[in-house]
Amino acid sequence: MGHGVAKCHDEIHGTIDKVQNPSATFGFFYAKVTPMKDQFLLNPTYTFLNHGSFGACPKVIFEKQQSFQREMESDPVYFIQKQFAKHLATAKEALAAFINCDPDDFVFTPNPTVAVNTIMRSLKLKEGDEILTTNHEYGAMDRTWHFYSKKSGVKYVRQSISLPVISKEQILAEFWQGLTPKTKIIFINQIASITALIFPVKEICDKARELGITTIIDGAHVPGHIDLDIASLNPDFYTGTLHKWMLAPKGSSFLYVKKEWQNEIEPLVVSWGYESLTPSESPFLDYHEYQGTNDHSAYLCTPTVIEFLQKNNWKEKSAAAKELVLKNYPRFCALLNSTPIAPLSTAFMGQMASVPIQTSNPQELKDLLYDKYKIQVPIMILNEKVYLRYSINAYNSQSDLDILYKALEDIIATTDLIQV
Ligand SMILES: Cc1ncc(COP(=O)(O)O)c(C=O)c1O
Repeated sequence: MGHGVAKCHDEIHGTIDKVQNPSATFGFFYAKVTPMKDQFLLNPTYTFLNHGSFGACPKVIFEKQQSFQREMESDPVYFIQKQFAKHLATAKEALAAFINCDPDDFVFTPNPTVAVNTIMRSLKLKEGDEILTTNHEYGAMDRTWHFYSKKSGVKYVRQSISLPVISKEQILAEFWQGLTPKTKIIFINQIASITALIFPVKEICDKARELGITTIIDGAHVPGHIDLDIASLNPDFYTGTLHKWMLAPKGSSFLYVKKEWQNEIEPLVVSWGYESLTPSESPFLDYHEYQGTNDHSAYLCTPTVIEFLQKNNWKEKSAAAKELVLKNYPRFCALLNSTPIAPLSTAFMGQMASVPIQTSNPQELKDLLYDKYKIQVPIMILNEKVYLRYSINAYNSQSDLDILYKALEDIIATTDLIQV
């Protein structure tokens, strides 16, 4: 246990520790250092409420990655030429079972940006064709499609999904208003980054299939967070991360491509797999599974990652986290004088939720929360509105949200950064 941390008393899930923040005038914070938090590398003196941005990796998984890295450095040639393919096949089998698809239908990528850029560079749309999306997408993805749109003359249609969301039917009705005879592709996030809302992508994929429209699903936040069954969702393309809610080391994601599309997908980076001297039956795998020398140890941890989730009953932990997210949402809305952005239900909110906040300076507010109150929580802007998004994982507890609540109360009372 770190400096300045003294055991205080017990709470529902275990031990609460009283943490004195030496640099703040704010006094005592009650930070719960659960046995679960001890299993992560997270700084125990900070309140970490931002799993959503880049995840957090348990020590045992991180150590597994380091053991792969050590093995590689002990004989890089032997590891890369003789061992890597075997470990990769095991990792792919494990992930394929977890997301329910054929291991030959996906490749690992460092992140969803690489996955979506790979698709984007292979598309053969005509000028005037349309890509239908929402106004809740992730900035890097919007930029990827704007880039494509500028180069190709394809129209990127950001259909507005209004807030507060009332129902699934409302989202679907608003979304389909963007459909035209020129719509060739649907690109949509299953869980949005800034609004943290869950979108009804199953219904969208089903209807798109009937209409003959190609679906590209951005599931960056999905694996390990809400159920994912690729076979039943049946999209044309899907990308998800392992390093967010599956707790893998950073730089582990995947790109699923339906069999019919695999011959269309060109390598984003051309390497030995193109015009391979030893081609497999799948150019898709040949092109994408070797793109130059790299450290792929994060991918190889997948079996350890899944074992960790199963051993620790992660489904139950995730359900408890979702409960905490929902329970606290009205409290933060009341404090910030904000309207909830969706019904309080796991149909719309998972392990993270976004509360509208009125602030004159989002960056200053975020920095203040971090520097003075030692809270890692994002304040983000989308469609000219500002949101505070809190994420909950098994290493968090009610006391973390209480710390955030008290900090916001203090900021409201002592500064003019937040308008209520
Ligand atoms: C909705 C969404 N899509 C994609 C990404 C992936 O971004 P990157 O490729 O930068 O890791 C994120 C990351 O937070 C996200 O929230």
